[in-house]
Amino acid sequence: MYDMYDMIFKRKSFRRFDDTLALSNEELQKIEQQLYKFPPLVDDINLKYQIVKQDKTTCKRGEYCLLVYSEKKEDYLLNIGYVLAQLDLWMASENIGACWYGMGKTTEQQYGGLDFVIMLAFGKGHSVEFRKDYTKAKRKELAIIWNGESLVDVANVVRYAPSSCNSQPWRVFCESADIQIYRSTQVRSMIPEGRRPYYNSIDMGIFLCFMEITMKNKGYEFKRMLYAGQKKDEDEDLIAVANYRIL
Ligand SMILES: Cc1cc2nc3c(=O)[nH]c(=O)nc-3n(C[C@H](O)[C@H](O)[C@H](O)COP(=O)(O)O)c2cc1C
Repeated sequence: MYDMYDMIFKRKSFRRFDDTLALSNEELQKIEQQLYKFPPLVDDINLKYQIVKQDKTTCKRGEYCLLVYSEKKEDYLLNIGYVLAQLDLWMASENIGACWYGMGKTTEQQYGGLDFVIMLAFGKGHSVEFRKDYTKAKRKELAIIWNGESLVDVANVVRYAPSSCNSQPWRVFCESADIQIYRSTQVRSMIPEGRRPYYNSIDMGIFLCFMEITMKNKGYEFKRMLYAGQKKDEDEDLIAVANYRIL
């Protein structure tokens, strides 16, 4: 997981795929093997995957779709974000373009006794099609998402994590060795309000993955604690997600 740091700057959401390129059977097998190697955020949540041709879903992009199924235990959405963020980065390292596809629908709502959660479209890409200058990717001003003077080197990387409708729901409060991560309930997005906690929880899992890869890369050792969604305080629209203590 930690060797994927450079891919943070290369990855992007692929929305145009070159139809003349196709993934080989070996590449598909490699993806299937790789899927079960990514460390989860929460150990005892069963995940299963199906790779189907794109036209078996409502998705109009990519050669294939990865359908993701999970047990619905506490923090299962965070867990999916965390695991699949690793896949997104790993795919970039293999020149496979991917796009999270929250809007995508499948008739295969259950698989192996688990419920469908989200899909990712993917297909072979040319290396030149990946992100060339990550600083040009549209993101919120740092001051909106990061409070506190410490770990700004980390902040300037993790702010490029992908999120549904680019909503970037993460809000970080950093005080010396203590990093509190929250999910904002006040994000602007096209997603209907009732569905925002669902997608933004997946986004938060992606963010935690980016945090950990980046902290490790910058030489910070840390201990993580997950919270079960308490509010920051009564006046604020922030839901506690995790805490990192730098050791
Ligand atoms: C959980 C999730 C769901 C998403 N759903 C869609 C989608 O349905 N359609 C789409 O075109 N992009 C989707 N995206 C991609 C985001 O729009 C994209 O990550 C964001 O705009 C940032 O751009 P980047 O990934 O190129 O850095 C989704 C991303 C995430 C994390």
